[in-house]
Amino acid sequence: MMNLSAYQSLLEPIDAFLHCPTPSLWIDEAKKAENLSILLIDHMICELKAAQTAAWLVRKYAIDKKSSEILLNWLQPYENLIYYKGGDFHQLLSRHHDISKQLVLRPDCPYAEELVDKMVTLIKEELHHFYQVFDIMSQRNIKYQSITASRYAKGLMQQVRTYEPATLVDKLICGAYIEARSCERFAKLVPYVDEKLANFYISLLRSEARHYQDYLKLAQKISHTGIDDRVKLIGQVEAELISREDCEFRFHSGVPSR
Ligand SMILES: [Fe+2]
Ligand SMILES: [Fe+2]
Repeated sequence: MMNLSAYQSLLEPIDAFLHCPTPSLWIDEAKKAENLSILLIDHMICELKAAQTAAWLVRKYAIDKKSSEILLNWLQPYENLIYYKGGDFHQLLSRHHDISKQLVLRPDCPYAEELVDKMVTLIKEELHHFYQVFDIMSQRNIKYQSITASRYAKGLMQQVRTYEPATLVDKLICGAYIEARSCERFAKLVPYVDEKLANFYISLLRSEARHYQDYLKLAQKISHTGIDDRVKLIGQVEAELISREDCEFRFHSGVPSR
């Protein structure tokens, strides 16, 4: 198995950024064999949601209408697979061509180029992760089923202010926390899952760690003022969501209630 200690320098800033570590009671729940399918299904959904959120940000702020269609079409087959359980998955990967060259930036958006660059790379990686989780599920005969979302992302989004550019800045900070928490949880799960899954989780650490930094850098660039206060506040809310009791086990759920 790949050695997790090689990734310590990657994980240190993430652990410092998060206001609390994942509760050990969540890890106890996550390592139960009967929870593996929920863990994988929810992980796969999270990868798609990460791609969808990034695509939404790009469409809302940075590109023109026709480009928006291109972006939506890119995600469509992945969404079909989840929502309608149809489509040929092997076709999907061939669609990973350089989409950013086809997108026309909105001239009135000063940060359009950077937002598109970072988010298109992120979308590409999240869709690839989605495919990887799907592949692992197929190998293990785990069938996709629709499940309810945990309250985590919704709880974070409730902190988002309702005027620009604060809305965008807060959404980016929420994105940074979701990425950082995911990264921390993958690392925490590594010792308790089988070797194949452990290697997969380790392979995700590098990109998720970069995603969290990209979100934060974008937030700082777009905000007219310092973002430390917002980062702190959203970080506190994130830690609260993770530390509170949750009746349903999910990838981002809190402490399992008894
Ligand atoms: Fe991912
Ligand atoms: Fe990510």
